[in-house]
Amino acid sequence: MAPSAHERIVFPLDVSTIDEARTWLDRLGTHVGVYKVGLELFTAVGPAAVAAVHDAGAACFLDLKVHDIPATVASAVRSAARMGVRYLTVHASAGPAALAAAAEAAQGTDTQLLAVTVLTSLDQGELDAIGLVGAPAEAVSRLAAVAHGSGVDGFVCSPHEVAALRAEMPNATLVVPGVRPKGSATGDQRRTATPAEARASGADLLVIGRPIRLADDPVAAARSIADEIAS
Ligand code: C5P
Repeated sequence: MAPSAHERIVFPLDVSTIDEARTWLDRLGTHVGVYKVGLELFTAVGPAAVAAVHDAGAACFLDLKVHDIPATVASAVRSAARMGVRYLTVHASAGPAALAAAAEAAQGTDTQLLAVTVLTSLDQGELDAIGLVGAPAEAVSRLAAVAHGSGVDGFVCSPHEVAALRAEMPNATLVVPGVRPKGSATGDQRRTATPAEARASGADLLVIGRPIRLADDPVAAARSIADEIAS
């Protein structure tokens, strides 16, 4: 069964204490389907953050962007799966062996891997400096193909890349940040799309932080985003 609109919203818990995380979980409840626990919160409070998300009746997206040797990556995937997280991010640039080890470790669990290809903060100069050849779009496509070929069928990608990845991988799970409802501030996101545009381009899940967090009424903001997704 296809997820309902609010289940497609991923709210990032970009905070550093469990109390702040719980405040957002209490406030938004099941108006969003997935909560993202990233490096800041996980480094500060660890698995308690994941447990708090589960206690709120929501799914957890553990955004640790794992990047290490195959054995270590596989162990991290197993630990995440034991916590019951629904999504875990891995860096595609960890390479085919590490990605294949990650995919094998995730098999038969409820945890789905999402590969991060090129961080959207990297511009051409930085890609050149670290020796990633070609334009960002080429690097994204090459790394996505490596991940897909290694058994990873989910990706985090920008609104700019989602249509191309969807065309290449019809069955992949595509998660898109940088989503801004009409009329909301773009902040530091350079390439944005509205929720409706991101869905139309093939996004399955939309990471939406500040448009909800900074709204006068965050629940109303989440509801109106869900309405836009549904339309
Ligand atoms: O909607 P907002 O811009 O506030 O969302 C920010 C969240 O999305 C952060 O958790 C950030 O890590 C994540 N993100 C991003 N851009 C990417 C990948 C992830 O903003 N390319």
